[in-house]
Amino acid sequence: MSENGSRDVVIEAHQVVKTYDTGLVQVRALNGVDLVARRGDMLAIMGPSGCGKTTLLNCLSGLDEFDSGTVTIDGQDITRMADNKKTEFRAKSMGFIFQTYNLLPVLTAAENVELPLIVSGTRPSEARRRAVAALDKVALADRANDRPAQLSGGQRQRVTIARSIVNDPAIMWADEPTGALDSQTATEIMDLLAEVNESLQQTTIMVTHDPGVAARCHRTIHMADGEILREDSQAEMLAAIGKR
Ligand SMILES: Nc1ncnc2c1ncn2[C@@H]1O[C@H](COP(=O)(O)OP(=O)(O)O)[C@@H](O)[C@H]1O
Ligand SMILES: [Mg+2]
Repeated sequence: MSENGSRDVVIEAHQVVKTYDTGLVQVRALNGVDLVARRGDMLAIMGPSGCGKTTLLNCLSGLDEFDSGTVTIDGQDITRMADNKKTEFRAKSMGFIFQTYNLLPVLTAAENVELPLIVSGTRPSEARRRAVAALDKVALADRANDRPAQLSGGQRQRVTIARSIVNDPAIMWADEPTGALDSQTATEIMDLLAEVNESLQQTTIMVTHDPGVAARCHRTIHMADGEILREDSQAEMLAAIGKR
């Protein structure tokens, strides 16, 4: 399916360079990254700790600025977008999942999930209706009024998935979404991400250390030292983990 070159290009990065300047030293975190992702793509990024995976996600999604190169999302150059336009664009068209759940502890599951809608100006009654529908999709409608501390790790990650899909985003970014979970719970979370990717025809980009998780994606990009080394197809990743 990823061989199908006719689907719309959603993300296009060209020669992205990013340096962190800590005052004492300069760290070249991205050293000229090129990447194209299409509608419906589910793409894994792998590589050793510190090779620039999180930095790449943050630069591609408009969370962080970079030194040079271009990133185009849906044909729009994000480097030329004003900050408020970028924030709105991110809220409307992107979902985010992190390894640590980033849920607000004082809010209930439903309140956490509806937050992005409230922020982007949806009426509270409508926001609550959609939050409960999103919780239903991750099989947590009955825990809508629980706070994060009352939920297991897997349930908390499902709440973050509900929060990230509540806007039906075209793009899903996930930074080690299964990193803190046991393998069975990780499989459940991957089932959910694959289902959302398929049903919304999303472009899903996820960082993972787990070859089994990567093998569930259509494409796997291998990074080292701020560069993309090579790409494996799903068949190649499945062969690498001995599943085909
Ligand atoms: N805020 C920061 N300030 C300075 N250096 C950073 C910062 N964030 C990341 N780095 C450095 O940039 C490199 C890439 O980091 P990162 O993108 O987090 O890697 P990964 O996600 O692959 O583990 C590392 O050398 C890291 O130490
Ligand atoms: Mg990282």
